Amino acid sequence: MQDGNHFALSGMADFDVDAFIESQIHAVKEALGDEKAIVACSGGVDSTVSALITHRAIGDNLICIFIDDNFMRLGEAENIRSILSSEPLNLPVRVVNERQRFMQALEGLSDAEEKRKAFRKTFYETLSDISKSEEIKFLVQGTIKADIDETAAGIKTQHNILEQIGIDPVERFGYTVIEPMKSLYKYQVREVARAMSIPPELAERQPFPGPGLSIRVVGEITAEKLEELKKATFIVEESFEPHNPSQFLAAIFSGLSSKDLKVLKRDAAEITGLDSTQIRAGFMNEKATGMFEGKRAYGSVITIAFRDPSERPLELKYEDLSKILSYLKDNYPEATRLLYLIDDKDRDGYAIALRAIKTRDFLTAKVMELQWATLQEAAAKILNTCASVSSVYYDVTPKPPATVEYE
Ligand code: XMP
Repeated sequence: MQDGNHFALSGMADFDVDAFIESQIHAVKEALGDEKAIVACSGGVDSTVSALITHRAIGDNLICIFIDDNFMRLGEAENIRSILSSEPLNLPVRVVNERQRFMQALEGLSDAEEKRKAFRKTFYETLSDISKSEEIKFLVQGTIKADIDETAAGIKTQHNILEQIGIDPVERFGYTVIEPMKSLYKYQVREVARAMSIPPELAERQPFPGPGLSIRVVGEITAEKLEELKKATFIVEESFEPHNPSQFLAAIFSGLSSKDLKVLKRDAAEITGLDSTQIRAGFMNEKATGMFEGKRAYGSVITIAFRDPSERPLELKYEDLSKILSYLKDNYPEATRLLYLIDDKDRDGYAIALRAIKTRDFLTAKVMELQWATLQEAAAKILNTCASVSSVYYDVTPKPPATVEYE
């Protein structure tokens, strides 16, 4: 049964994948007729499926734009351009270099929502400039159901949400927005991607947020923080991928605040049986997003380190951490994260947080209980490669109370 964009349960998948593809190709054809359209491609599965459906609907009247905003992974623009434009996808892709524009737009901002809003404005203005110069009146994008749900629930300003929060794209940017995937969750989009023979490197690829690394450089963005994060991202993706998390990433903080959480230290000693002299507990300088009572929260990030007598960080024991997390819920309800020290070097520098989660719908998520050796290996590589980083932590907070991303 079909109700607008919504499909009822049937067969193996919980919707009829082939019928969905056909109906969306038809809907896009109807909406666009002989008009041209832009698809904003990021290399993620949502925008790739949207591009392919649109290409099937309108052929060469489609232009895929990949905006190189400087917040992508190392080498991403060329990598994605090559996959999208080759067999079997053969999409007409254009990469536009807008690095300076995005860096300037975000310069000096440190509040998570302000950064997201500045990113969104620049993103749509960039597309608006292109569509105006090409006289294109339609923008197709890969918005999915979770993006809309989370924005509507007040969890965050998703980079690709406009009409749902009262922004009229025609009036503001000069184009109508078409969203073929907006009734699906991520796992359903992957089913569509598989059915459309999108290569596994894209169909099964972990999500990467539209604002990219801008929301993983926690707080103020500087060129140095961003460059260190790009290197750490490369390392963590390579190290964690074999363990198959739903999503895995690195974020960078300016460092630890000087505040010492004495009470937490004492209580963590009681929970773990360690001596309180072996425990350090504090805050990161920046706040990070999380969820509190179903809404977005912006709270402190607690760091904890357990050390042996020679100051080496002790192995992470997940059972102890779940006790500490429930303790934090009662005693530090405004904290959105707990980060556990994996390794550090005796020098001043940034702090990197590693995150690996398991989830189906990304609305809630569990922390992946990765082996200590895997975490240590990734941390050691980061400390050796990133000369301005002095500590590496593992984020042990599920969603909620954290979110997947840091801002
Ligand atoms: P959060 O941080 O809300 O993330 O728990 C849930 C999922 O959404 C992704 N995400 C985004 N994707 N634009 C996107 O395209 C965004 O602004 C955005 N913010 C978060 C996040 O990576 C995770 O998969």
